[in-house]
Amino acid sequence: MRQQETGQQLNPLLPGYSFNVYLVAGTTPIIENGPLDFFIDRKKGMSGFIINMTVKGRGKVFDGDDAIYCNPGDLLLFPPDATHFYGRAPGSPDWYHRWIYFRPRAYWSHWLEWRNQVNKVGRLTLPDKELINEFDELFQQIEQTYKSGRRSSEELAINLLERLLIRCFEETPEHRETPIDQRITEACQYLSRNLAEEVNLEKMARHVCLSPSRLAHLFREQMGVNIVRWREDQRMILAKHLLQSTRSPIAKIASLVGYDDQMYFSRVFRKRVGASPSEFRKNSEAPPAFCEVPSAGGDDRPSSVSES
Ligand code: FCB
Repeated sequence: MRQQETGQQLNPLLPGYSFNVYLVAGTTPIIENGPLDFFIDRKKGMSGFIINMTVKGRGKVFDGDDAIYCNPGDLLLFPPDATHFYGRAPGSPDWYHRWIYFRPRAYWSHWLEWRNQVNKVGRLTLPDKELINEFDELFQQIEQTYKSGRRSSEELAINLLERLLIRCFEETPEHRETPIDQRITEACQYLSRNLAEEVNLEKMARHVCLSPSRLAHLFREQMGVNIVRWREDQRMILAKHLLQSTRSPIAKIASLVGYDDQMYFSRVFRKRVGASPSEFRKNSEAPPAFCEVPSAGGDDRPSSVSES
């Protein structure tokens, strides 16, 4: 067993699992006095985000005045620096929740700023059964895809997660009035079409009918990162895809995503992805759940405490 070889916990429902991956999805069925009936207690948060949805019973998050309770159809979003402290609510016979741990793509930032928050944890309540079913389905699809073991399972699961985050964004009442500016969407498309080219801010600004400074400002405001960083992230996403799905030499992939200097490309890749392009390609051949990347800091190991 790998667990015995490495001494690491391989079950994400139990304390000690390292979460040193891009995406992990699961369902935690907590039953009163069962083996999972403890409070998750991660004081320093995790390296990535967690989105969770209650599907049965009642959960309790935080304690004292901050305590919040979650019922079927309630979603919670924990950003990396939020404390995790949750478990079955006293009095409820169970708490089943689906969850996804993930390291987001840069252009997702807009969808990850949930306005309704308690102690940094975003909250969203789905108002009707139809929506609850739709979201539950989506969570299950993500979990099944992630666990399917097929070659692109992680990419496909991330793709479905993106859909889930967009749906959460759409269902947040305040966001209905503040859609993304069409000119910024157009700027993103422009960048994606010209990924290997140098960014010519003036040309792009003309293309979307904004002044260069207004475009730069609005882009940062709406996308959460600046134009150069956004394009770099897109380049890395494409490079990862090409490394996984082709046998092209690294120098060729570097040039396809806009880097003539392979050494420089490898440096940027390592900085953003946490592994060199060749290490990443090699790791991608292993099953996705063990495709490890160096931790971005933060202690992801839950120290579970029983509820008194
Ligand atoms: C599991 C918990 C789940 C979530 C994941 C990351 O152990 O049951 O709620 O926190 O860890």
